[in-house]
Amino acid sequence: MQVPDIIIAIDGYSSTGKSSFAKIVANEFGFLYLDSGALYRGVTLFAIEKRLINEDCTIDIPALTGALEELDLHFGKGGTYIGDRCIENEIRSLEVAGKVSPIAAVPQVRNYVDRKLREFGRNKRVVMDGRDIGTTVFPEAELKLFMTADPMIRAQRRLAEMNAKGDHADLQEVLKNLQERDYIDSHREVSPLTKADDALVLDNSNMTIDDQMEWLKEVIQKRFNC
Ligand code: DC
Repeated sequence: MQVPDIIIAIDGYSSTGKSSFAKIVANEFGFLYLDSGALYRGVTLFAIEKRLINEDCTIDIPALTGALEELDLHFGKGGTYIGDRCIENEIRSLEVAGKVSPIAAVPQVRNYVDRKLREFGRNKRVVMDGRDIGTTVFPEAELKLFMTADPMIRAQRRLAEMNAKGDHADLQEVLKNLQERDYIDSHREVSPLTKADDALVLDNSNMTIDDQMEWLKEVIQKRFNC
């Protein structure tokens, strides 16, 4: 399938399978996959290590804003990097997951990440997943999806993902973390998680990856005549 030079923006709740789907879509169409949540997680890891966020999630915003100027956060072989250090595993920990939403609510952090994302998307042919890609980062994206799924199914998926990596957690704890993040992500002042008016909803509670791909291909064929 010859897909034109477009940006595919995939937004939605945590653990709806956005990144797995986005990766497969990128692979299928020969697009670049960009995980915007990984950048928020990277800033969070950085803030934890520099002690700019404490246990009750109080953030030293002036210090963090200043430190961001020096932060070389980028994508490389195998995932996300700070300078030449691969941080892909650390950013998936429960500690980072528990602190990422307050960090992502800081306007200066959002500006920092938005600037990076827009740079990566300059040449189109990207699939980017996140919470505000279709509303804020690329409001002009040619194709916007909004992914959702039943919360318990999402928690089970996240737990399976963690178990596969050897990280063990309790299902109720994972569910609680997801629901807290949904709440903060949807209620923050800057770029809250909302569906763009022109986004198509994809509820994949009962869909396999193949079902989702079939659905997407039909959408693309109809919209772009390809
Ligand atoms: O997709 P994820 O779970 O890795 O995202 C981690 C956090 O980053 C999530 O709780 C919300 C935040 N995020 C955001 O605010 N805006 C984005 N575009 C992507 C992620």
